Amino acid sequence: MATINVDDREIKVKDGALLIEELLANGIEIPHFCYHPALGKDGNCRMCMVEIEGKKRPQIACDTPIKDGMIIRTKGENIQRVKRQILEMELINHPIDCPVCDQAGECSLQNYYMDVGLYESRLGTPKTRGKKHVDIGSNVVLDQERCVLCTRCVRFTKDITKTKELGVLNRTDHSVISIFPGRPLSNPYAMNVVDLCPVGALTSKDFRFNKRVWFLEPDDAICNGCSKGCSLHVDHHKAKYENDSIFRYRPRFNDKVNGYFICDAGRLSYKKQNTNRDSFAQIRGNESEYEYASGKLLRLLKRHHGKILFLLSPSLSLEEMVQVKKLSIAYDAKLSGYDVNEYDHNFGDDYLKCNDLSSNRRGFNLLNIDEKKENLEEFSKNIELAILIGRDDIQTIENYENIDVKVSINASMPQHSDLYDLYLPMLTHMSREGSFINIDGFLQFSKAHVEYALETKSLSQIIGIVLGDNIFTCKEVWEESLSDIIKDIKLENIQKKSCKMSNL
Ligand code: SF4
Ligand code: SF4
Ligand code: FES
Repeated sequence: MATINVDDREIKVKDGALLIEELLANGIEIPHFCYHPALGKDGNCRMCMVEIEGKKRPQIACDTPIKDGMIIRTKGENIQRVKRQILEMELINHPIDCPVCDQAGECSLQNYYMDVGLYESRLGTPKTRGKKHVDIGSNVVLDQERCVLCTRCVRFTKDITKTKELGVLNRTDHSVISIFPGRPLSNPYAMNVVDLCPVGALTSKDFRFNKRVWFLEPDDAICNGCSKGCSLHVDHHKAKYENDSIFRYRPRFNDKVNGYFICDAGRLSYKKQNTNRDSFAQIRGNESEYEYASGKLLRLLKRHHGKILFLLSPSLSLEEMVQVKKLSIAYDAKLSGYDVNEYDHNFGDDYLKCNDLSSNRRGFNLLNIDEKKENLEEFSKNIELAILIGRDDIQTIENYENIDVKVSINASMPQHSDLYDLYLPMLTHMSREGSFINIDGFLQFSKAHVEYALETKSLSQIIGIVLGDNIFTCKEVWEESLSDIIKDIKLENIQKKSCKMSNL
């Protein structure tokens, strides 16, 4: 460790680490464009200037290793003047089209200008123009004029995806970011350059002009696109007279799971959460009051006691699985997690994406929920009532003629809802809380709260009402049963450290 003095405050930092890393880690604001923790330093933007006692000129914090006893100034007239001059250079050819720029509200250039810029333009000559709204790939649009040439996007395709679609063309103030001829930016992680770009030069085709960012409410959640369970920010908004809707997912830093990035498929999977939800309960294809349908579920459970099969989705949360297990014990029912639909052998890669598309298969292992096909066949012999929870695969039980009552409890209306005797909607993944164990054994808590317009309950609430035990929330399920299960079972691979128990 080293002790350094920053703006008359002593802080303990890692000796030899990059100054910018430690300053940012200690909450000290250092403007920067080209440095990014996932991409390292590049030293091209010069925005991160600080004064270091003993040095004649200001130094860039992103390329200065820490030495014990350093005295640093990040504020003051001198350093503000330097930053202002650098900003003036950055903005010489910038179009200043903030009012129509999609990045407004989350643009580093705009923020730094408001912090330290605020000068009158001294430019008397025409600006060098670049191309606007250039389609550079499946999901990203480039505005060359807004670019500050930090090269984060270029380094992302060079160092992270290793696909190398982007480069800097030409020289001096004619330098622009471009794709190489015939090589569009269409790799499965391409949209991460939109988050990396500190200005509005790279924008998402999907999100641009859909919503001003200051209207969005960000919730912390995890992606349910595959078993990696990447950490996300879920940006949603409920406008007056409209339903609460998700506008985008953004990666949330998690060094144990996804680092700073997510895949494009997961990023765009928010659309599924917006569609086919907010449906009415149905009894034999006819709309029903939610309360009446819940009562019907209870009556069916009582009538078929001992002859019930629960078919669970491996994407339910741990809390929901525990609750269904409790329900199955109460009604002497069979439980199966057999599900072939949650695999896509063409989806996975060697970075984040996994072939197993379920978000909590490890939860099945933890709670000993059976997944074998032969056991499902065995269980189904004496079954009269099958209840499919969180899944839409009625074909799995089609061949069992003895099953004459079928129930679906699902977040979206089943494709063949008329084939079910009862359909009870439950809250979607992004509308309820829950814990999930990802493919590597990390336990995470998801807690997005996208609102519903129609009355709909979470699965835990539905079961809590049926059982009459007043256990409805994740916290209550953990206190009643999950804490003991997690404690009793030896989970070598589950990293309790990454479990955000404080959120429960
Ligand atoms: S497009 Fe954005 S990320 Fe790429 S160099 Fe320009 S400013 Fe940086
Ligand atoms: S890798 Fe999987 S969990 Fe991560 S963003 Fe993509 S689909 Fe979602
Ligand atoms: S962040 Fe230091 S030079 Fe760009």
